[in-house]
Amino acid sequence: MQVKTVDLQTSQAVSAAIEKHGASREALIPILSEVNRLLGYIPAEAFTEIKRQLRLQSSDLRVYESQLYSLASFYHMLSTEELGRHVVRFCESAPCHVVGGRELLTAVQETLGIQPGQTTPDRKWSLITTSCLGVCAVGPVLLVDDDIYGNVTPDQVPEILARYE
Ligand code: FES
Repeated sequence: MQVKTVDLQTSQAVSAAIEKHGASREALIPILSEVNRLLGYIPAEAFTEIKRQLRLQSSDLRVYESQLYSLASFYHMLSTEELGRHVVRFCESAPCHVVGGRELLTAVQETLGIQPGQTTPDRKWSLITTSCLGVCAVGPVLLVDDDIYGNVTPDQVPEILARYE
């Protein structure tokens, strides 16, 4: 039988998330969000640990790792991959695309030297493309960590990213 191990940091993050949001089906997304916030991403072992701890707290609450993984994959603010210290999210939906999104993405790629889905070798930056961020009126849009930048032009990219040096 294969035994899965969970490191202490992941176990503690899951405990804290469940304590904060409660052991219920409605709390699954908040729990995943809290683990993502605490660890910077949701490692595979966290799904096992969430399932285990929820079961301990509420024996009739059955969740599956595949279900947790699907939720984490669906919400673009959650990541199942370890990311860089700063994360640039680029909206690639049509309303942003038609007002200069393609040129903006090119500028971000050139400034960071990476493509969407990649992290820089020094692990400082990750670049992710997402669907609509809900601020289409000020497209094209960049989200750097928790900071939203609207009406961004390609020439503004180096100055914006320099704020995170
Ligand atoms: S389409 Fe880009 S924020 Fe909505």
